[in-house]
Amino acid sequence: MAYAYLFKYIIIGDTGVGKSCLLLQFTDKRFQPVHDLTIGVEFGARMITIDGKQIKLQIWDTAGQESFRSITRSYYRGAAGALLVYDITRRDTFNHLTTWLEDARQHSNSNMVIMLIGNKSDLESRREVKKEEGEAFAREHGLIFMETSAKTASNVEEL
Ligand code: GTP
Ligand code: MG
Repeated sequence: MAYAYLFKYIIIGDTGVGKSCLLLQFTDKRFQPVHDLTIGVEFGARMITIDGKQIKLQIWDTAGQESFRSITRSYYRGAAGALLVYDITRRDTFNHLTTWLEDARQHSNSNMVIMLIGNKSDLESRREVKKEEGEAFAREHGLIFMETSAKTASNVEEL
């Protein structure tokens, strides 16, 4: 299919935060309840229309596990945007954001837009990170911020 623009995105963040599930919800409108650990990197694509123009989004879903970190680093190149994901029910995934941010800034173009995503907003009763904390981190580092749920699809389209 013809398109006017092709934008490459990369999804990063700790293992188990829901990166693959966010992508699956965005491309297939489905939710995967089991953790299928991503090995290396996976890939998804979707066409969207903005101002009457066809735009192809090419989305690289990376593995969060530490052992894949060097592979992940090679995928920042040429990315227009990065989605940095943490899990609102696991404080450790929020604590690791600074390391992810350093990696992203170091290996990408300086004009890459970084968006901070607090995922699993459906699990309110198990929340360990307040929405205000996510907002504050984003403000401090100049990131766009949103809370999402890959399960209920809340904010996935907006993201
Ligand atoms: P790696 O590939 O290892 O880096 O992990 P990942 O970030 O891709 O995590 P994945 O998408 O595989 O999701 C991990 C687990 O969290 C799975 O059991 C998902 O079903 C669950 N999960 C993901 N997103 C959500 C969500 O928004 N809400 C709830 N309740 N569970 C979620
Ligand atoms: Mg994954």
